[in-house]
Amino acid sequence: MKNYLVTTDFSTEYLNGLIESALKIKSGEVRNKPLDGKSIALVFFNPSLRTRASMQVGIYELGGNAVILEPGGTSWTLEHRDGVVMDGNKTEHLAEFVRVLERYVSAIGVRTFAELKDWETERTDPILNAFAKYATVPIINLESAMHHPCQSMADMMTIREKLGAGRKKVLMTWAWHPKPLPMAVPDSFALAAAQFGHDLRIVHPKGYELDDALIAEIEKQSAANGGSVEFTNDVHSAFDDVEVVYAKSWGGKQFYGDTDKDIEFRTGLRNDWIVDEQKMARTNNASFMHCLPVRRNVIVTDGVIDSANSVVIDEAENRLHIQKAIMSELIK
Ligand code: CP
Repeated sequence: MKNYLVTTDFSTEYLNGLIESALKIKSGEVRNKPLDGKSIALVFFNPSLRTRASMQVGIYELGGNAVILEPGGTSWTLEHRDGVVMDGNKTEHLAEFVRVLERYVSAIGVRTFAELKDWETERTDPILNAFAKYATVPIINLESAMHHPCQSMADMMTIREKLGAGRKKVLMTWAWHPKPLPMAVPDSFALAAAQFGHDLRIVHPKGYELDDALIAEIEKQSAANGGSVEFTNDVHSAFDDVEVVYAKSWGGKQFYGDTDKDIEFRTGLRNDWIVDEQKMARTNNASFMHCLPVRRNVIVTDGVIDSANSVVIDEAENRLHIQKAIMSELIK
């Protein structure tokens, strides 16, 4: 394990092993300090509650020290592109930033959201990959333009904890949100659900299709791991008989560069595309999941998120345990 960038870099067996380790860490059976005397840098280009707090606490509990940097805030603005004339507002290039930082730390975590400006560029995760290119220490993806693999592994761990090991009927539903959001969470959740062999149903309005290459990978992983994948645009029947409802909003790839057009396109979707009690009643007593932060009574009603079926707080807690398992493997 050199880097932790996307779950598809690892076999399902390996990912299952990470969940086993995380469960032992959570229960207190394992209390190792593999980061004793070591530091890990956490580079946040964007805001965070769960990722920042769980990584900082996790590093401390593993015996290490977290160095938190915010480019453009507590550290210099950063350029990632090769060959550019840096006469604009970027002060330092990643070529120096990464190679200096790794003289001090044993790994680097990076959070860098999609800007929703240029689909063809952003779909390649350019900033995350520039970190990986320059680094010789491990890079941990703390949510990039296209992937959030720490979140998706906490999600898989939560499904296993709540429903037991094995194949489950899992729905990932698009939800209305006042503005377009990145695709990292839905991309990674769908990939991981396919890798873990779940029966995955994805529902979204027409116009909010995921990346074509990603869909091909989801289908490949699903077939290889004994699951199934189904896409639908019917937001009501999609809830029938599922055991997990995973809600997330995302922006349309054709609207990258034109936020106002996406906002206009989604007008009229608000009433139907919310997870409410009526939809949950169609499920097989499904657990409700969301990565958080979530807009109450926009993405999900108070009645659903406050119900006994909501597992969002345990899901957030599991970020801590799975990331401790991931960091322990990386630093081994
Ligand atoms: N789910 C998640 O990554 O939360 P934060 O954005 O608060 O880190």
